[in-house]
Amino acid sequence: MPGPGSDPALQQTIAYPGRAPGAEPDPAGDGARASLGALRAEVAKAVVGQDAVVTGLVIALLCRGHVLLEGVPGVAKTLLVRTMAAALSMDFKRVQFTPDLMPGDVTGSLVYDAKTAEFEFHEGPVFTNLLLADEINRTPPKTQAALLEAMEERQVSVEGAARKLPDPFIVAATQNPIEYEGTYQLPEAQLDRFLLKLSVPLPSREQEIAVLERHALGFDPRDLSHVKAVTSAEDLAVGRAAVARVHVGPEVLGYVVDIARATRQSPSLRMGVSPRGATALLGAARAWAWLSGRGYVTPDDIKALVLPALRHRIQLRPEAELEGATPDGVLDGILTAVPVPR
Ligand SMILES: Nc1ncnc2c1ncn2[C@@H]1O[C@H](COP(=O)(O)OP(=O)(O)O)[C@@H](O)[C@H]1O
Ligand SMILES: [Mg+2]
Repeated sequence: MPGPGSDPALQQTIAYPGRAPGAEPDPAGDGARASLGALRAEVAKAVVGQDAVVTGLVIALLCRGHVLLEGVPGVAKTLLVRTMAAALSMDFKRVQFTPDLMPGDVTGSLVYDAKTAEFEFHEGPVFTNLLLADEINRTPPKTQAALLEAMEERQVSVEGAARKLPDPFIVAATQNPIEYEGTYQLPEAQLDRFLLKLSVPLPSREQEIAVLERHALGFDPRDLSHVKAVTSAEDLAVGRAAVARVHVGPEVLGYVVDIARATRQSPSLRMGVSPRGATALLGAARAWAWLSGRGYVTPDDIKALVLPALRHRIQLRPEAELEGATPDGVLDGILTAVPVPR
C-alpha cells in the first residue's frame, strides 16, 4: 500500500519514451519530451532517488503550477530543487521562511533614493524562475499570504503598481511534517493553490548507502558545476503546447468528477475536493500522459496523480484522524470504491 511518504505511481514507467504507436507525428513535441526526460538523469548526478519528486516538478512546470514538498530535514529537498534549476538553466532563488520575515522580504519593496529624491522598486527574491520557499510554515500568515498571492497572480503589487513576474515562475515550498510547535499551518484555502503536494521520503537502505558512497568519493553538495543544462525554456514551451493537445475522453472526465464527488461524500472527510481540485487533477494527469508518450489520458493516468494532486485538498474529520485515518489512506479507499471506466 502506498503509505504517506511516497508517490510510487509517479516512480514507475517513465523513461519518458518516444511517441506512442499510431500517434500523430510531432517531432517538436518528441524532442521536448526527450529533453525533459534527460532532466532526471542530470538531477540523478547529484541526488540519489527521489525520481517521483523530479517528475512532479516537471508536471508542475508543464501545468504552470506550484508544488509543496513535504519531508523531514536532510532528505535532499534543497539539493534537489537547486539541481533541477541548474539542469533547467533557470534562474533560481531560495528564501528561508523565518518567524521574522516580512512580506517585502519576499516580494520586494520601495526604497528611497536620496540622490534622485524618488522611491525605487527593489525586486524581492520572488522575481525568479524557480523559487525555493524553504520551511514555509515557519513564517507568519501575512508573509505566507504575500507569497501565495504572487504565486496565484504571477505579479506583485506594490503601492498600486503591478509588476509581472518572469515566465516560467514556479514555487517549490517545503514543509516539515513533524514540527508543529511554533509553526503556522497553511490554511486550506491557500493549500489549494499548490498543484501538487509531493512527499519526499527517507531513502531506502540501498539508496542511503549510495548517498554515503558519493560523499566518501568527495561529492560536495555546494558545488553543482558538473550538472549540465539539458532543458531550455523553449523545450518547456513546446511541451506545454503539446500537453494542451492531449485528448481527454468523456469517460475520463466522468471518472475525475466521480472521484471528486466521492471525496465530498466520504464519512472520513470534513471537506472534499472542490471543482478547482478536480481541474488540477485532470491537468496534471494530462501532462503525465504526454510525458508517458501518449496523446490521450487513461484512467491509470488519473489514478497516478490522485494522491499528489488531491492529498492537500481534503480535510479529515477529527474522529477519523483519531482512528488513524490519513489523507492518502482515504484517497486510496476512494480509488478502490469508484468504478473505473473501460
Ligand atoms: N537522496 C540524496 N542524494 C544525495 N544526497 C543526499 C540525499 N539525501 C541527503 N543527502 C545529503 O544530505 C544533505 C542534506 O540535504 P538538504 O538538501 O539540505 O536536505 P533538506 O533540504 O531536505 O533538509 C545533502 O546536501 C546531501 O549531502
Ligand atoms: Mg533544506
